[in-house]
Amino acid sequence: MAKRVFSGIQPTGTLHIGNYFGAIRNWVALQEDHDCVYCIVDYHAITVEVDPQVLHDASINMALDLIACGIDPERSILFVQSAVPEHTELAWIFGCVTSYGDLTRMTQFKDKSAGKKFVSAGLFNYPVLQAADILLYRAEEVPVGEDQVQHLELSRRIARRFNSRFGEFFPEPTPIVGKGARIMSLADPERKMSKSAGEAHYIGVMEEEASIRKKVRSAVTDLGPRGDEMSPGVANLFEILELSADPETVAELRREYAAGTLMYSHLKDVVFESLMRVLRPIQARRAELVAAGNVEEILAAGAEKARRIARENMRQVREMVGLFPCAR
Ligand code: TRP
Repeated sequence: MAKRVFSGIQPTGTLHIGNYFGAIRNWVALQEDHDCVYCIVDYHAITVEVDPQVLHDASINMALDLIACGIDPERSILFVQSAVPEHTELAWIFGCVTSYGDLTRMTQFKDKSAGKKFVSAGLFNYPVLQAADILLYRAEEVPVGEDQVQHLELSRRIARRFNSRFGEFFPEPTPIVGKGARIMSLADPERKMSKSAGEAHYIGVMEEEASIRKKVRSAVTDLGPRGDEMSPGVANLFEILELSADPETVAELRREYAAGTLMYSHLKDVVFESLMRVLRPIQARRAELVAAGNVEEILAAGAEKARRIARENMRQVREMVGLFPCAR
């Protein structure tokens, strides 16, 4: 039996190449030999304030992006979290086997709540819902970016505590971290590429070619002398090159760098071209999907498949915990 994989992505914000190389490309590859469940996590998105119409459109846009990137809704289950109410149901039960102290140590919570006037309890409970997402399908492997490793550790603790209290039911899920998880901002190569840092700090997967060219061309390459070490900006360009170009091209440019003959303008041109060779077909595929106009049907079918698994697992969980069966 193929192992079950689960992963989730928030719908709000733009899908950038850090997400693509760090996680989504992995999601696509895993479809070959795993039983994959991929979820657009809109309940996680409402842990901070978001306009309802914006949220709804973002979920649909994220589905288009993911399918364009190669998620195949025939082979994998692709759906929106809120279409399967068992996620929040399991999250409540998990909240009761999660240590408050553990939640206070989550670095993502500390980062996201720092300096905020209003911090929701939902933001605090975010990792509990994430554990519910994964374990609702009894998934064993979770492709994520590096920043999610701590949340996965907590998911394992939750599974363990549930199992020891109520009986063996959940596997302990392990993260699969993508190679490209360390793409940095082109404008500030000492911080991670992210959508929250602003326009200049990320390259969107669906971004217009002219805009991507501009961002690559103006990438920061030098931050003052650093001895023999490659500057973070140049290292970052090589990182993107490694992820998008063929090995010979990378090796050639590395030789030039070592010989001291590499022009950064040339490096940038090659990075741009290699990146566009990855992105162009994805962008074209997305345009086709928009034209086909059936993404909402695809999501509804995905949610139906997901719910069949979720409903059965929750039936068993209710029984193990001593809760009542669902009313009809
Ligand atoms: N917290 C994840 C992120 O910010 C998104 C997410 C929610 C997720 N539920 C998940 C990822 C379950 C993996 C598995 O990237």
